[in-house]
Amino acid sequence: MRFPKEGLLVALSASGVRAVNNGLARTPQMGWNNWNTFHCSVSSTLLTNTAKLLTEYGLQDLGYKYVVLDDCWSSGRDANGKLVADTTKFPDGMGAVADALHEQGFLFGMYSSAGEMTCARYAGSLDYEENDAQSFADWGVDYLKYDNCYHMGRFGTPLISFNRFNEMAKALKKTGRSILYSLCNWGEDYVHTWGGSIANSWRISGDIYDSFARPDDLCSCTNAADPACIAPGTHCSVLAIINKVAPYIDRGLPGGWNDLDMLEVGHGGMTEEEYKAHFSMWAALKSPLLLGNDLRAMTASSLAIINNPAIIALNQDPRGRAIQRISRDLDVPVDRHGVGETHVWSGPLANGDQVVIFLNAADADLDMSASLEDIFIMDGVGTAPQIQQDWAVHDLWGNSGSRMSLHDAQALLDAKDADARRSFLQTKLDWYNATELPYAQGLSRRDPRLFGERIGVVEAGGKISARVPRHAAKVFRLQSVSGQDTTRKSLLRDEL
Ligand code: GAL
Repeated sequence: MRFPKEGLLVALSASGVRAVNNGLARTPQMGWNNWNTFHCSVSSTLLTNTAKLLTEYGLQDLGYKYVVLDDCWSSGRDANGKLVADTTKFPDGMGAVADALHEQGFLFGMYSSAGEMTCARYAGSLDYEENDAQSFADWGVDYLKYDNCYHMGRFGTPLISFNRFNEMAKALKKTGRSILYSLCNWGEDYVHTWGGSIANSWRISGDIYDSFARPDDLCSCTNAADPACIAPGTHCSVLAIINKVAPYIDRGLPGGWNDLDMLEVGHGGMTEEEYKAHFSMWAALKSPLLLGNDLRAMTASSLAIINNPAIIALNQDPRGRAIQRISRDLDVPVDRHGVGETHVWSGPLANGDQVVIFLNAADADLDMSASLEDIFIMDGVGTAPQIQQDWAVHDLWGNSGSRMSLHDAQALLDAKDADARRSFLQTKLDWYNATELPYAQGLSRRDPRLFGERIGVVEAGGKISARVPRHAAKVFRLQSVSGQDTTRKSLLRDEL
């Protein structure tokens, strides 16, 4: 049966998942936010110096273009009720910060709370929405992260929270300036059911912390459907956040995304494999990718994770669909350590390729596998046409192919100045530049820098197997080698 085009639109809007229509975040936003490392130690120099390093390390040209200032930037309100920037931290005011970042080719993000105060007890925007939105627009702000502290009891049902956050959505719109709107109410009041109608992203959990899988009582609330789940908390591990978003990852669509919180890569609390798994899952789950590390003290290992263009290309894929979890095993025996948890995730990409992730959250190295029947289960239980094709398997963390070597990453970090870094990236490495070749184009041209390392072929009806280290992810991109474009083929089949 075929939907007429209009029928499809009606179906989408009736189910309430149509994304906010401000033209922004057609792919998840990327950038840097100071909170995870610097907390309240913010200043205009921190932002502009970080922006400079984002440029020099080639990260701006990989898509990290929002520089987002978090809490603790104001010194209260003036007699007219207007927010005032702290002049010690921002001596020339916020407009000057925006100008400086714009000159460097970045977009400027700011922070407030839909509460009487922000979480660090600075002035919040509740009941000052129009005033504050106008200040942000006047200063040249391009992005607002909008938190949930001190909400004066105005929460408890989806409608109450929606109304509170919608006041700022309306105020931002009224300014006429294009401002990406990023909700931070920690998954409260089923934000995944309404966030997409007013905002470009919405946090789905309490605050992340720098641990891969360690449970913590401060992040006890992991099930949004649990009526006792009123305080999403902090200290949420990477695994806790992945498990929390799993039931509603389909809510992310071009224009509005589930936000899994800022990245921890580079803080030092996880192993290299854990950080690779964290970054891969955030990318493939279509979370905003906001770096949270101190770029002045970055290791080669961290740089070579956050700059993997083949992983970022999953995040920025124009099809805009997150991976789905196709299996979760909670009882994997791991020798004397008891049992552990593994997942297989899979999802379609714009060009008909398929991404497959083996996530091993258990405390031992394990063999994992998935058949083509499992991998394409969303296209038909045992009947997906893709099962009958041969697929080239590309390892997106493969050491040849697209990934920067640790040696090159160290050389880039050690280069003497901005010019040396630029010429190293351009001349020596021919490094991917998404400003010059946006991901959608690079993917459609099959630019090899976005496709990792080809490691083999899985034949029709076969399966993929891999040894996955403890707390790690194997990330594969499957490319049909049967000479068929699967997207086209399934479209044709539906049309018959
Ligand atoms: C939390 C938020 C963090 C950070 C912090 C600032 O509520 O989840 O990401 O913004 O407030 O105080």
